[in-house]
Amino acid sequence: MRPLSFNIFHYNIVATKKQVFWLFILSLVYIFLCLWYNFTMRICSVKLTNYRNYQDASVSLDTGITMLSGKNGQGKTNFVESIYFASTTKSPRTSDLSDLVLDGKDGARAEFEVERNFGKVNIQFVISKKGEKQFFINGNQVSKLSEVFGNLVVVYFCPQDLRVVSASPDVRRDFMDTDITQLSGSYYNLLVRYNKILMQRNKLLKFEKDRESLERQIEVWNEQLASTASLIIKTRKGFIEKLKEPTNEAIKFISSFKDELKMEYVGARGTTAQEIKEELLKSLKYNLDRDIELGYTSIGPHRDDIYFELNGKDARNFSSQGQQRSIILALKFAEMQILRDEIGESPVLILDDVFSELDPSRQKKLYEKMSEFQTIITGTNFKFRPESEYKKLNVTLGVIKERKA
Ligand SMILES: Nc1ncnc2c1ncn2[C@@H]1O[C@H](COP(=O)(O)OP(=O)(O)OP(=O)(O)O)[C@@H](O)[C@H]1O
Ligand SMILES: [Mg+2]
Repeated sequence: MRPLSFNIFHYNIVATKKQVFWLFILSLVYIFLCLWYNFTMRICSVKLTNYRNYQDASVSLDTGITMLSGKNGQGKTNFVESIYFASTTKSPRTSDLSDLVLDGKDGARAEFEVERNFGKVNIQFVISKKGEKQFFINGNQVSKLSEVFGNLVVVYFCPQDLRVVSASPDVRRDFMDTDITQLSGSYYNLLVRYNKILMQRNKLLKFEKDRESLERQIEVWNEQLASTASLIIKTRKGFIEKLKEPTNEAIKFISSFKDELKMEYVGARGTTAQEIKEELLKSLKYNLDRDIELGYTSIGPHRDDIYFELNGKDARNFSSQGQQRSIILALKFAEMQILRDEIGESPVLILDDVFSELDPSRQKKLYEKMSEFQTIITGTNFKFRPESEYKKLNVTLGVIKERKA
């Protein structure tokens, strides 16, 4: 039989028709299995050494639901914070990373074994007393933080998130950026680049007192700022577009079809990066006098927002506390869905101290959804039945123990 010859990525591959046929069949079987078996990402184990109030903790986790209970101030949030940190390289509570080191110790260390559909990934981080962080993926130190993103993907819900609808726009921007970053390390690099350019432009606005010289120099910064900003805005708009439908579906589910949600990105107009860039360049020119007066750049992705409309009214001013809670929960479930579609596996869901405050009928509905993936819930007490369906952990002063039913 005459072999077939292919050129793939400059490699010349020679195979018989029979080999090509079997390769095709195997690929079909793999695709079928992927579709049939809903892959879920799983944290298999967590080891914490001198992290917050954990001196030496080692915990193994299963798929499905894990409930971490304990009295106030025992270490529930500290535990889930370490998982969030391993995923995003950020703490949801502090920017001073020395806070993460156990009092009186030189440094903290944490290690996570994560099961993915392509195999296991080992993530480690070390934080020095000075607050410097280092990450290791499968034992190799990463040179850029963007290499950490995507190894462990989590959707994290904590009491502060309840402010997403009502708080200032920076909270909503942070919400978008954290999620997009988990999907794309290059987005993180874009943000870093944007902030550097923004700082340079602001410096010029503040310190260059000669108007002619300022106008000459600012052209360069406008061009660079608009180029980077247009890519950020285009990505964010795409993210919001994807979120719209599943969020509305989720809110209908949670509210038993009482609520309807619309959301929109508020920022420069345009769909393509080129359109957005042109729009930004116009606005930067138009707002120059104001920017000089203020001493900083008043338009761009660092000022953008998300608009939520619930049942035809601005959710910020009209929705109740309970409705705002439902919007956030819906967003989190929608995030789970779009992250799963994007990476082909369900991310890990973390609910810190928010679940127990829901009324029993909502708890029941959410409980059904949560058992589809790995979920870690913290709270002071849980009353779920049957208890045998989930793993129960208890923490007392930084010591975690498994609780049998
Ligand atoms: N760097 C640190 N070194 C030692 N202890 C710390 C450190 N950081 C925080 N803690 C302690 O950890 C405890 C808080 O833990 P955490 O926030 O996880 O509690 P929690 O179980 O979530 O409580 P709650 O139910 O009130 O939310 C506090 O007692 C705090 O003093
Ligand atoms: Mg807590």
